[in-house]
Amino acid sequence: MKKILTVIGARPQFIKASVVSKAIQEKDALTEVLLHTGQHFDANMSDVFFNQLGIPRPHYQLDIHGGNHGEMTGRMLIEIEKVLLREKPERVLVYGDTNSTLAGALAAAKLHIPVAHVEAGLRSFNMQMPEEINRILTDQMSDILFCPTDAAVANLSAEGFDKKPIQVLKVGDVMQDAAVFFARQAIPPQKFNLADKFILTTLHRAENTDNPERLTAIVDALNKIHAEIAPVVLPLHPRTRKIIQEKGLTLTANVIDPVGYFEMIWLLQHCGLVLTDSGGVQKEAYFFGKPCVTMRDQTEWIELVEVGANELVGADTQKIVDAVKRKNGQTIVDEAQLYGGGHAAVEVVRHLV
Ligand code: UD1
Ligand code: UDP
Repeated sequence: MKKILTVIGARPQFIKASVVSKAIQEKDALTEVLLHTGQHFDANMSDVFFNQLGIPRPHYQLDIHGGNHGEMTGRMLIEIEKVLLREKPERVLVYGDTNSTLAGALAAAKLHIPVAHVEAGLRSFNMQMPEEINRILTDQMSDILFCPTDAAVANLSAEGFDKKPIQVLKVGDVMQDAAVFFARQAIPPQKFNLADKFILTTLHRAENTDNPERLTAIVDALNKIHAEIAPVVLPLHPRTRKIIQEKGLTLTANVIDPVGYFEMIWLLQHCGLVLTDSGGVQKEAYFFGKPCVTMRDQTEWIELVEVGANELVGADTQKIVDAVKRKNGQTIVDEAQLYGGGHAAVEVVRHLV
């Protein structure tokens, strides 16, 4: 039996790993050792996903979070290396573009353990984003690159990956697998009493939260939308909550704690529009037929902009409000099957075997 060691640590990675872990469990040829770095640690940022999505308890829980990027990544590197030396897996599996992704890939590469990267090839072409650094370096260290989209494959070709002795495989997006698999488990958040067609908002990217001008412009837009267009529902990331409190900004929207995945699916199913700076939530809007307005200057999911399902508005108050007004209530149809239709995890595992 081949042993795979999977490194996860942040909310979107739990959701991605849930479907792949399930597919691994269905294969006799593979066994998975799960390592949680601890990057996300609040119950509503971590435990809730293990409980709802049936992810096995991690074999290793490192409890590493906070600090600067270098410190967090470095501490993870030290501890992941120890686990790899003990477990001696045949391959390490990493997801996405967080500090946990980079630490997992680097620890493995230094020990000459092959790395497979799920969500490879995505680029924003903005090196100011920590995620861009993490994903470029992780791709460089991997010998199996599981790409979710044609754009991701094209990015890797442009960087010369098609001439390397490694595998670049378009498998579709594992987040669509999760959305399809868990769609019928949707439940409303506790004490939620809004009618349909509210604006579902998430906000946590460093480029927005750590830039006072951008953050203020976004908060102004949310307050305006909440007062003039439709109620804004904002399950608020702890990072953003902390900064908004520190800055003394006033948010009049319906701010709630981060919700579990089943509650998030329910909100996606019942909203009129998604307003976000999240990577994953941009696609989930599309999976659930909702228009998306993205508060960023670039997106890695460029195909959504090309088909008109998503609009980039940066952190410009007026642009945000105008786009929400224009797109609220539209219905989006996935005619092009941009993300593979929910079969990515099985493909990933087939190649791993
Ligand atoms: C990380 C990822 C980002 C991803 C996001 C998903 C990096 C560089 N960034 O950003 O790509 O989109 O996760 O949500 O890896 N905090 C808590 N409780 C938690 C988690 C975080 O209080 O359970 C607070 C802490 O104050 C922490 C801050 O949020 O210092 C930021 O957390 P961190 O993991 O560094 O980055 P994210 O913004 O979550
Ligand atoms: N999500 C969730 N509860 C929330 C907010 C987000 O379950 O309160 C889910 C969301 O549905 C998606 C994932 O978390 O599956 C996206 O994670 P996040 O936005 O934190 O990170 P990103 O995708 O930007 O890296």
